Amino acid sequence: MKKIAPSLLSADFSRLDEQIKKVENAGADLIHLDIMDGMFVPNITMGPPVIKSLRKTTDLPFDVHLMIKEPERYIKDFAEAGADIITVHQEASIHLHRTIQQIKSYGLKACVALNPATPIETIKHVLKDLDMVLIMTVNPGFGGQSLIESLESKVKQLRNLIKEENLNIDIQVDGGIKENNIKRVCNWGANIFVAGSAIFKAEDINLAIENLKNEVK
Ligand code: DX5
Ligand code: ZN
Repeated sequence: MKKIAPSLLSADFSRLDEQIKKVENAGADLIHLDIMDGMFVPNITMGPPVIKSLRKTTDLPFDVHLMIKEPERYIKDFAEAGADIITVHQEASIHLHRTIQQIKSYGLKACVALNPATPIETIKHVLKDLDMVLIMTVNPGFGGQSLIESLESKVKQLRNLIKEENLNIDIQVDGGIKENNIKRVCNWGANIFVAGSAIFKAEDINLAIENLKNEVK
């Protein structure tokens, strides 16, 4: 199933509750929350208290993308704040298998993200434990960057691997996804599309989501 996950990173931070309601009414499938620590990526965003207070605004799943070093330190806090999916970066967690089990111990969906330069081989041995893999299509840290086209072969490689191993795992892409490329990226094999600026910087949020959805129908 194809899903659209608006990233709040490009939303108006002074009225996140309204912005969540707006994308929910427009047909968003997940709410993507980008958590940055100023170490793993050169930017700082929000933490568990913000997620906890936003939790009451919607029943949509919270897709929490942790761009933080040693994310295992904070899985409990994000689980208790109301995350439904927790994504950790392969590059940020030394004992990745243990971190994945930690996420699952809270009954949450576990996802691993790969930076553009990190090969699929690095998660081969944990693949069957995952609900989703996030292929970063930009270098993480900021919204509004351009899709790195050379990631095509990586998404295709992952789709083939999932098929070969007969697994049921979503492929999420994050960064630079727009109305004019989402269909192509869908054909690479991705099925969950994060979009920040394409939605929140659009003149009409409803229309932006509708157009993205139509492209991958
Ligand atoms: C980047 C974040 C993304 C970001 C995407 O580090 O992980 O979720 O918000 O923004 P756009 O869609 O504008 O590239
Ligand atoms: Zn993200």
